[in-house]
Amino acid sequence: MDKFIIRGGHPLSGDVHISGAKNAVLPIMAATLITPGHFILRNVPDLRDTRTMRKLLEIIGAKVEFSNGVMKIDTTTCNNPVAPYEVVKTMRASFDVLGPLASRFRYAKVSLPGGCAWGPRPVDLHLKAMKALGTEVTLEEGYIVVKGAARGADINFEISSVGATKNALMAAVKAKGKTVIQNAACEPEISALIDFLTALGADITGQDSTRLCITGVQELRNELDFTIIPDRIEAGTFLITNLLLGGEIRLHAVNPGHLSIVLNKLQEAGSELEISGNSILAKSGAGIRPVNITTAPYPGFPTDLQAQWMALMSRATGDSIIIDEIYRDRFTHVAELNRLGAKIKLEQNVAIVEGVSQLAGAPVMSTDIRASASLIIAALAATGVTEVSRIYHIDRGYEKIETKLKNIGADIERVST
Ligand code: EPZ
Repeated sequence: MDKFIIRGGHPLSGDVHISGAKNAVLPIMAATLITPGHFILRNVPDLRDTRTMRKLLEIIGAKVEFSNGVMKIDTTTCNNPVAPYEVVKTMRASFDVLGPLASRFRYAKVSLPGGCAWGPRPVDLHLKAMKALGTEVTLEEGYIVVKGAARGADINFEISSVGATKNALMAAVKAKGKTVIQNAACEPEISALIDFLTALGADITGQDSTRLCITGVQELRNELDFTIIPDRIEAGTFLITNLLLGGEIRLHAVNPGHLSIVLNKLQEAGSELEISGNSILAKSGAGIRPVNITTAPYPGFPTDLQAQWMALMSRATGDSIIIDEIYRDRFTHVAELNRLGAKIKLEQNVAIVEGVSQLAGAPVMSTDIRASASLIIAALAATGVTEVSRIYHIDRGYEKIETKLKNIGADIERVST
């Protein structure tokens, strides 16, 4: 397994090109299964997760080519509406194929995703939506089996769920009749999926709101050339890193509109930001001011930047409180950050971070995508050398992370063990 050797203390300087959004491209790859066709996706990041989703599409029978950020998907040859446990257990987003397969084949057999590093990841809301749409949903030896033709329905989610909203949307676009989804998630990645589906001819209103109306259509177009939106979480990760390390970086190919609350919090904490079109110039001010955050569904502070924010606050000039209301157990990075000299106490889903004047390098272990990012950020700020192990986690969600960091002055090396 690979690890990173990081020597901290270098301020950042230079340009970062933000890649396409992992959490937008995965559901859109799944959505190509809804109808037989030929699809071209551009600005696709080369990640473990996009390679896993490619493998899943090929198991289902699609033909996929992928090079230089362009993915060509031919779903005319799909003939196997099954997502096997061996694949789903490595990537929860595999569950995104449930709605598309049910829509196309009126049958889907998708392994239940396991938990993850920070606890159970239920799919009850996905199943509630499929049942509301009139399909038969059963659990058979660890697989969710969906049978029957979906028909329009009213779906009211008790809590905002990105995944359940995606599956409900994709199952409803060709369902006979009208579907209304209340309390839908409205993350930019949902909006991008809606752009993709409407470009195919789906009839969806309420985009960017929590109430979506889908009127089923008989046919969808069988070809589309579509560009993936920028990754707001990667962009936020680099901006947080810059404030922590000091320096000046410019992000390119980013959508500042997807990061409003994060940009506000960064400015509160001392970052000087200049936004122009799809680039952001970030300069670090004098010191890091303590700023509390509580995660919430979009447009609230994203849970996917909670761990990174905690690394930043560990070096603030005062104490801060970080609360995760989306995943109450998403704190496996706390113990590892404390190994680097952070002073973080955890009380259920509330982390109390006492700012310290210095972090010191030590061996630490990644546990999930964003915890890995948090440890890398802290290691880049720490004195001495840090070894970050199990970095296959970060390769799931960040494209060429060490190359991008080296290009702006970081001292980071990948070594195979
Ligand atoms: C998506 O996961 C993202 N993954 C996650 O990013 C992100 O953290 C999450 O949304 C929240 O923004 C992808 O897009 C591939 P949810 P998802 O359904 O869809 C509960 C990353 O690092 N819930 O919005 O699985 C759930 O437990 C990943 O890139 C139910 O109770 O998240 C959580 O508390 C990590 N029942 C809350 O809802 C359900 O049926 C939000 O989950 C579904 C969810």
